[in-house]
Amino acid sequence: MTAGDAPVIALDGPSGAGKGTISLILARTLGFHYLDSGALYRSLAVAAARHQVAGDNIEALAVLAAHMDVAFAMADQGAEPRVILEGEDVTTQVRAEETGVQASRIAALPEVRAALLRRQRAFARPPGLVADGRDMGTVVFPDAALKVFLTASPEERARRRHNQLMGKGVAATLAELIEIVNERDERDRNRPVAPLRPAQGAMILDSTGRTIDDVVATILAAAKQRLER
Ligand code: DC
Repeated sequence: MTAGDAPVIALDGPSGAGKGTISLILARTLGFHYLDSGALYRSLAVAAARHQVAGDNIEALAVLAAHMDVAFAMADQGAEPRVILEGEDVTTQVRAEETGVQASRIAALPEVRAALLRRQRAFARPPGLVADGRDMGTVVFPDAALKVFLTASPEERARRRHNQLMGKGVAATLAELIEIVNERDERDRNRPVAPLRPAQGAMILDSTGRTIDDVVATILAAAKQRLER
């Protein structure tokens, strides 16, 4: 099953489950394109702040979502792609914890989700796509060849985020992060449109205590089976 001519691997799950890292490795291994849909919602939050569009100005947010000038530039092997908004590298701002919170808020608006739908689907091009987010398998790519729902315990997710931030020299306490992560997931799970939940037929994987290589190998084995059908 494909979106257009391109097979899609949809990876959904809560924040910090390891979707980003794992999706990038999968895309590189398979030679597929990569969609970080969270980065689109995050870029919209940054663009809205830039253009002084308030979080409750639904109409303006939807217009911005449809037309913002954003691009993802693949970086060196292993590094996360750079986010270029209106010609400027905004990767650091896009990745900030506060931007994630703002993104989660505007992502609850159906008008915003509708405006981003087409943009997300346009990423599905041959030879294939690995798409990571919250509703890749349920809404954006319902015909995905493989759907994976990746989870990990809240403590482990906050710990990973903590290590990531420390690596970047950003100060944050683990307790703070557990609270932020839980609050964001709660909102993503309980919104009426495209809530975070496993798609029907999704392979459910808990990455708690498992290595990245191990999780990647499990998904690749399933992908191989599905893509060869
Ligand atoms: O994956 P992320 O943490 O970068 O995503 C940031 C927020 O964007 C997330 O809390 C909810 C929203 N989001 C969404 O609603 N749907 C997606 N497919 C991806 C992200």
